[in-house]
Amino acid sequence: MAKPKYKSDRRSGEKRSHPKKVQRDRPPYSEQQRSDGDAQATKSKPPAAPIAERQIFEGARLAEKTGMVLENPASDDYALLDSGSGQKLERYGKITIVRPEGQAIWLPKLDKGHWQNADAIFTGDREEEGTGRWKFPKKDLGETWPLKFDDLSYWGRFTSFRHVGVFPEQAAHWFALQKAIQHANSPVRMLNLFGYTGIASLVGARAGAQVTHVDASKKAIGWAKENQEMAGLQDKPIRWICDDAVKFCAREVRREQSYDIILLDPPAYGRGPKGEVWQLFDHLPHMMDLVRQLQSQNPLMTVLTSYAIRASSFALHEISQEVFAGLDGEIHTGELILKHQDSSRVLSTSMFSRFVGRECVL
Ligand SMILES: C[S@@+](CC[C@H](N)C(=O)[O-])C[C@H]1O[C@@H](n2cnc3c(N)ncnc32)[C@H](O)[C@@H]1O
Repeated sequence: MAKPKYKSDRRSGEKRSHPKKVQRDRPPYSEQQRSDGDAQATKSKPPAAPIAERQIFEGARLAEKTGMVLENPASDDYALLDSGSGQKLERYGKITIVRPEGQAIWLPKLDKGHWQNADAIFTGDREEEGTGRWKFPKKDLGETWPLKFDDLSYWGRFTSFRHVGVFPEQAAHWFALQKAIQHANSPVRMLNLFGYTGIASLVGARAGAQVTHVDASKKAIGWAKENQEMAGLQDKPIRWICDDAVKFCAREVRREQSYDIILLDPPAYGRGPKGEVWQLFDHLPHMMDLVRQLQSQNPLMTVLTSYAIRASSFALHEISQEVFAGLDGEIHTGELILKHQDSSRVLSTSMFSRFVGRECVL
């Protein structure tokens, strides 16, 4: 596999100039907590590592679309069949699964038979790893089963944390980045931060991008590589990097690297491989400053998703407006939803805010 070179902005053919930035005075941590009026933040401890000074990226506020709803409609690959009473019934390929869903505070629509007929049920009632926390009423399904997204093959996976190795609502972003790459008029470099099992990385690589995938978990990187093999994309230029996302980005900024597409789907709380603490509300602003500096001269899209729903999507919107100020493009903000296959109900799973460059075809 050819080792990608990342020194200059290869889409524009020019050396990238960093956006004009100005150091901004930041109140000491405790003062900042008091001024944001957030009860949970006031209770939380100061972060272990000092957070770098924020920066100001000068320029006009971008055109914007808010309240956007992006949907992944039911397909052969995935369908949300029903939800209610704190659970959801989904179909992944041919397999039906019952998992907890805290948002589903309503009653299920389908009768009990449909739910009882599921192939896998997350019970979470044992301390075991992996499939030990799942019940398979019909036959043991092992740890993995084959899945597809838009004809790209990968593995579904019964994990200890009720996840199944894929977040199907993210398909809305995968279709968008695939189209953006296919319509770009020069080679695209993509960075997937907090990349998990790598489906977005594989979609990007299949569409023709050079991909850098970063995740703190060795296990997740291993799963992503298995997915690469399953998809038959071993020859595509993907760098798999096990690192703390903040540290990695800071290093890339120092090396003057740049990317045309950047995805980040940070958890509310996480840890880097060396125990580095990630707290979304403490670290996201600095992370976004780094992301802004990593954008290429003519960036296509930068997508921030958050499942930490104690915030409003407008928090993501405003941090995007702040750091992408002055760029040639728009900010789109909204929610990712799943519509139930046989009813008009929708289930909101996460919110997002994305920068879309003027040249990006969506
Ligand atoms: C898939 S994302 C979030 C997924 C989903 N939105 C959720 O809420 O579970 C979580 C990924 O971030 C990774 N992660 C957590 N902390 C990290 C850090 N400091 N640096 C890089 N990756 C990290 C985890 O290993 C995991 O694969």
